Amino acid sequence: MNDQIFETVVTTCSPAGVIHVAPMGVRYSGDRVVLKPFRPSTTLDNILVTRRAVLNLVDDVRVFAGCVTGRRAFATVDAQRAGEPRAVRLACALEHLLLRLDEVDDDLERPTLGLLRVHEARHGPWRGFNRAQAAVIEGAVLVSRLRMLPPDKIVTEMRYLQIAIDKTAGDAEREAWGWLQEAVERHAAAAVEGAAR
Ligand SMILES: Cc1cc2nc3c(=O)[nH]c(=O)nc-3n(C[C@H](O)[C@H](O)[C@H](O)COP(=O)(O)O)c2cc1C
Repeated sequence: MNDQIFETVVTTCSPAGVIHVAPMGVRYSGDRVVLKPFRPSTTLDNILVTRRAVLNLVDDVRVFAGCVTGRRAFATVDAQRAGEPRAVRLACALEHLLLRLDEVDDDLERPTLGLLRVHEARHGPWRGFNRAQAAVIEGAVLVSRLRMLPPDKIVTEMRYLQIAIDKTAGDAEREAWGWLQEAVERHAAAAVEGAAR
């Protein structure tokens, strides 16, 4: 049986305080939040050094689409606790969990990090499932794998996801979807150019 995975956004800080934002699928195991970052990963490096991460639960899917299309300058808010290392959350987080690294199961390809909750806070209401948001997350996964997937699979899946966008998107979802479409088109154009060379 597979683990149940939830798509979140993890904010970390380097020891010098540089903020990093990355979408990450997480598992919840008892008290623990479990992350499995593929190497190489700035998120992994930051967590191993600072032993802290912030889990952001968001419904603004522009963060997912933005991260996979090179737009990472999202507004953040200080989430540091007294006596703790620097931590920030996304300004758009509906909820955030400040986490402390508790256990590392090391692996050359994909270590498993077990983190414990130091603090958590709610900032906004969750309004229910939105199919366009789910479509943007699926689209972001596709875009993060453009180099690994056959072109016809990308076209077919984007066409299917477009249905949910057309039926249920708001402005944020439409903007995020536009960034993903642009990335898919850029990738397809580069492939045609490469083949013609
Ligand atoms: C919805 C979604 C879920 C993701 N989940 C993971 C994950 O669980 N582990 C991982 O290594 N990368 C995951 N990624 C890809 C990372 O966000 C991306 O590769 C990121 O840049 C990680 O490397 P970094 O820490 O250097 O930023 C996911 C991407 C998306 C769009």
